[in-house]
Amino acid sequence: LREHEEFTKVKNIATIELGRYEIETWYFSPFPPEYNDSLKLYFCEFCLNFMKRKEQLQRHMRKCDLKHPPGDEIYRSGTLSMFEVDGKKNKVYGQNLCYLAKLFLDHKTLYYDVDLFLFYVLCECDDRGCHMVGYFSKEKHSEESYNLACILTLPPYQRKGYGKFLIAFSAYELSKKEGKVGTPERPLSDLGLLSYRGYWTRVLLDILKKHKGNISIKELSDMTAIKAEDILTTLQSLELIQYRKGQHVICADPKVLDRHLKAAGRGGLDVDVSKLIWTPYK
Ligand code: ACO
Ligand code: ZN
Repeated sequence: LREHEEFTKVKNIATIELGRYEIETWYFSPFPPEYNDSLKLYFCEFCLNFMKRKEQLQRHMRKCDLKHPPGDEIYRSGTLSMFEVDGKKNKVYGQNLCYLAKLFLDHKTLYYDVDLFLFYVLCECDDRGCHMVGYFSKEKHSEESYNLACILTLPPYQRKGYGKFLIAFSAYELSKKEGKVGTPERPLSDLGLLSYRGYWTRVLLDILKKHKGNISIKELSDMTAIKAEDILTTLQSLELIQYRKGQHVICADPKVLDRHLKAAGRGGLDVDVSKLIWTPYK
């Protein structure tokens, strides 16, 4: 019931200011009641504290000494950096990030228990600081082998390949390093599903294209850290699966593969694994 109430609540905050962007919001987010009478909120782009008035933000910016998310920089390539923020060590930041993200996420309830999560915040950095472009969150210990809880690219940065970068980073660079198969938490939004489908399609087609001879779903899963069910539904949607004698068999006709590869287009920004400085959470 609570979930249903949250979904159907009317959008409260109409726009936010964040760094140099003014962004129109998409959905309701349960900000504390004292913020609910404002149409616009002003966020500090570094600590993500939010305020009701521009003058408050200006005053805040004079004394806020953060220039990047409060955590360890675990990846840097060119101007792109990823920070890992522990929700337990940075509770307020984690909560602020959840309030902000909920403005763009429909089918998600807000986690008040940020202690249990790690937040991976992707930034474009320049001489003024590291500007958040998006993030994903991940449970420290997931019983369902989820490798991602929520993913968001802020609207001004969408459709530039950051989503695919975040998926590749979460889903597979981290899971592969942990030696675990993973999958995103359900339900996925329409845009989430499109992005994941795109990512899975590209990864699987690349392997099938190079591979000689038969290959099973289990083998693909071991190679990619993608969960078998996700491989099956992706290959089914590409019509590369046949059902024979009670078993799903991959039928990778080279002509069909080429056609799909062409349609799949470019892979977006690549994760340069050599730039990853990270060990799994203990
Ligand atoms: N219309 C059509 N297709 C789209 C759109 C769109 N508006 N946006 C993304 N896609 C598809 C495309 O196939 C695109 O690949 P292409 O550009 O090669 O065609 C692919 O998704 C990925 O595009 P990216 O640029 O890599 O992704 P982006 O940075 O835009 O981020 C994301 C995708 C994170 C889903 C973003 O749309 C977003 O933040 N949406 C709001 C929050 C959300 O729905 N998150 C997922 C919830 S589910 C979960 O969290 C587990
Ligand atoms: Zn601040």
